[in-house]
Amino acid sequence: MGRRLFIAGNWKMNKTASEAADLVSKLKTEIGAAAGKVTVAVCPPFTALDRVCGILKGSNIAVGAQNLSDKASGAYTGEVSASMLLDLGVRYVIVGHSERRQYYGDTNEIVNKKAKFAISAGLLPIVCVGETLQEREAGRMKDVITTQFKGCLGNFTKEEILKTTIAYEPVWAIGTGKTATPAQAQEVHALIRSMLSGVFGADLAEQIIIQYGGSVKADNSKELMGQKDIDGALVGGASLDPAGFAKLIINAIG
Ligand code: PGA
Repeated sequence: MGRRLFIAGNWKMNKTASEAADLVSKLKTEIGAAAGKVTVAVCPPFTALDRVCGILKGSNIAVGAQNLSDKASGAYTGEVSASMLLDLGVRYVIVGHSERRQYYGDTNEIVNKKAKFAISAGLLPIVCVGETLQEREAGRMKDVITTQFKGCLGNFTKEEILKTTIAYEPVWAIGTGKTATPAQAQEVHALIRSMLSGVFGADLAEQIIIQYGGSVKADNSKELMGQKDIDGALVGGASLDPAGFAKLIINAIG
């Protein structure tokens, strides 16, 4: 359907600002012309965003944050606002990553508020959904994904959903080396696209990017992204090595 692949690196709580500067300088060289064929973003920690945005300005690599506040400004100690991110040159923001849901209490309702707030401020959210191993083994994958979809995205307008990327990240595949098989991932991506179609219409559903995340590497990126409804990847561990991340991207489009 002509959806452009979108591959984003989620660095999580890794890399100081100096290390981040070194990583993206190398990444720019390693990716080279391939960055023009897919959408590429890196999502460093807040403390490295300024340096990274400076280095990547004018390049084909965009910058994302890993979280944001659902408030505009004010007495919210420790929070970072959308306008602070935009001012640095940040374009994307990950919302509802399973680690935020698991350790920091981000519920579907909070994810929904943050994503809507991000869009209203001018950022593009990457909204994460995904089931745990227990949920999958109990046969509850569809219920969980449906509940997360409805809670996080169900009340979006068409304009809002068009600015949103969805990332399917099975929790059991994150950082574990266990990747969902391309068929397992495709099944969930197709489910998400059918829910998009149900709420927003088939034409719109075909335009939305659905990334897969969970142990994506250079040697499985092509097969995963070759699936009909897998339009990119949200990459954790493998995005921390510039040569490996570049190879993952080049393999995916090759
Ligand atoms: P992983 O993480 O690639 O290290 O499994 C993916 C993610 O959590 O976004």
